[in-house]
Amino acid sequence: MSSSERARASEPRERSGVGVPTSERVGGSGGAKPPGTERARASEPRERSGVGVPTSERVGGSGGAKPSGKGKERPKLLDEALGFGGPIIVFDDVNLAFDDKVILHDVSFTLQTGHTKVFLGASGAGKSTILRLALGLLRPDTGRIFVNGEQIDRMGERELMQVRADLGMVFQEGALFDSLTVRENVGYKLYEEMAWPIDKADERVAQVLGFIGLGEFIDRMPSELSGGQRRRVAIARAMAAKPRILLYDEPTTGLDPITAQTVDEEIIKLRDLEGVSSVLVTHQLRDAFFIAEHAASRETHEVSFEKAPKEKADEAEFIMLKDGGILFEGNAAELRDAAARDGYIRSFLS
Ligand SMILES: Nc1ncnc2c1ncn2[C@@H]1O[C@H](COP(=O)(O)OP(=O)(O)OP(=O)(O)O)[C@@H](O)[C@H]1O
Ligand SMILES: [Mg+2]
Repeated sequence: MSSSERARASEPRERSGVGVPTSERVGGSGGAKPPGTERARASEPRERSGVGVPTSERVGGSGGAKPSGKGKERPKLLDEALGFGGPIIVFDDVNLAFDDKVILHDVSFTLQTGHTKVFLGASGAGKSTILRLALGLLRPDTGRIFVNGEQIDRMGERELMQVRADLGMVFQEGALFDSLTVRENVGYKLYEEMAWPIDKADERVAQVLGFIGLGEFIDRMPSELSGGQRRRVAIARAMAAKPRILLYDEPTTGLDPITAQTVDEEIIKLRDLEGVSSVLVTHQLRDAFFIAEHAASRETHEVSFEKAPKEKADEAEFIMLKDGGILFEGNAAELRDAAARDGYIRSFLS
């Protein structure tokens, strides 16, 4: 541990190298493929535990675990898959307990590139824990976790830092640094961790604030923003380093419905215009359905939102956790059907 921490301390320059090619991929002039062109997810009826298995086998079979070390080449098959809407996050039979309290048992799921996975469930069901596992902040007791083509569950801290360069996290409540300006908050990772040149980082900060429509707030302090603006700044901060994956923990909780919709729209824009793959944890079903069932498009500078066609809406999948396991997995329409049959699920929808 201590040697990997030492390695981490001397690492920031290398990590900026990790971020840059990614940024070329996702950012800029919309290089990302429109998710609608991706291989349509099979619309087979899904029972919860069957879903993750074939995919995880596909991943495992394509080389999955990488030898630890520095060469960061992905297994070729997986790399190809990632480029064409293949899996970008895979949990394969993940189990986790704290002492003798089981938190997650046999959790398997696959997030396809450019798609959205929505986690629902009661408080304490393990939703944030899944995000912490995906970030490598926790290790599973058993099972495998793949992020962006890398098996991360047994990785050391140094390798994890490289994987995290492609992950952005929007924390519960936004969690901005109160003593830093909007510019410093948004650019924090670029300035402090990735050591981007100042002018390049400044340019990126202005770009992401423009993207979320808060360019004129760049020199404000968080205390001078509304709750909704703070959440949007938190999203700008998470997207600043151009990650391919964004993890959102309750991004709209506590916001009024109209403000929440402005946050939902940022999430949709990132997914549809920047090709970002999203994991969304929420209690706000209204927002989850809105994100699942709307699509963003851009004509010249105007971004518009419209009802997504069915095949696009089906790219968003809902998972309901209960007692550490997956109670339900399916698309928005299947969730509504399941609610009609199952009182527990219905209690979340009403
Ligand atoms: N470090 C830890 N040590 C012990 N127990 C923990 C730890 N972290 C989380 N837990 C427990 O794991 C369970 C799941 O926590 P988690 O934060 O994932 O819940 P959640 O579904 O995100 O809940 P909420 O909706 O309230 O945010 C809870 O019972 C929590 O008390
Ligand atoms: Mg939580």
